[in-house]
Amino acid sequence: MITFANGHALGYDDAGTGIPVLFLHGFPHNRSLWSAQLGALAAPARTISMDLRGFGESAPGTPCTVDAYADDAVTLLDQLGIERAVVVGLSMGGYATLALWRRHPSRVRALVLCDTRAGADSDATRAARREMQALAKAEGCTAVANQLLDGMVGRTTRLKNPELADALHRMMALAPLLGVVGALDAMMARPDSTPTLGTIDVPTLIVVGEEDVLTPVKEARAMHLAIAGSRLEVIAGAGHVSNVERPATFNHVLSEFLISLTAQ
Ligand code: MLT
Repeated sequence: MITFANGHALGYDDAGTGIPVLFLHGFPHNRSLWSAQLGALAAPARTISMDLRGFGESAPGTPCTVDAYADDAVTLLDQLGIERAVVVGLSMGGYATLALWRRHPSRVRALVLCDTRAGADSDATRAARREMQALAKAEGCTAVANQLLDGMVGRTTRLKNPELADALHRMMALAPLLGVVGALDAMMARPDSTPTLGTIDVPTLIVVGEEDVLTPVKEARAMHLAIAGSRLEVIAGAGHVSNVERPATFNHVLSEFLISLTAQ
């Protein structure tokens, strides 16, 4: 845990040595989403995961926007003395990663966009997010977790690894209310990042679970086509949280990418 000069407290973990890799979790997760990656990559890497504002050990804060998530990440890099990092974001963490690229491109060594999309919310999605905020306030985050669980993991995980689905449900149900409500605001207000994709000139890996129904393979393919020189990896037998559902495959793909960076 670290407290910034402005008094904002932020939870993070930092393991290993090598190329700095910063992990940003999705909604409504916390940094433990990356526990199978931290210190576990075959590539020499300094792996850092952080709680986005309002989640895990990080204090809630205003504004709650994807830009604020990105700025918090850069403040953490400053505090840790890291000039440039490979930024890995899953789903909502991917929205924050694209914001980080827009706002602080000089801090980005490479990008890894996992199970995410570039587009902004549709009107229907915004309406559903407002309903989710009302549900969270009325019934708590367990009700939110109940609603999200089916889309969060793929059918293979649901069938073959129900304990993993239960663990994810627990993580989501324990998410702090302010973090959840704030993240829904952040996602509703986020801009369309499609025009940003054409500006990306650092090595980029796009990863998606083959069974992801929330940010399906076609979203990943569209980002792949729009980001020059990017690489796309589709992970079989995984849904939306591909790093959790297929950690060995995910870590292999990520390690290969990191090794290709250090070889450059
Ligand atoms: C996530 O996993 O972060 C969410 O699926 C993102 C979203 O709701 O758009």
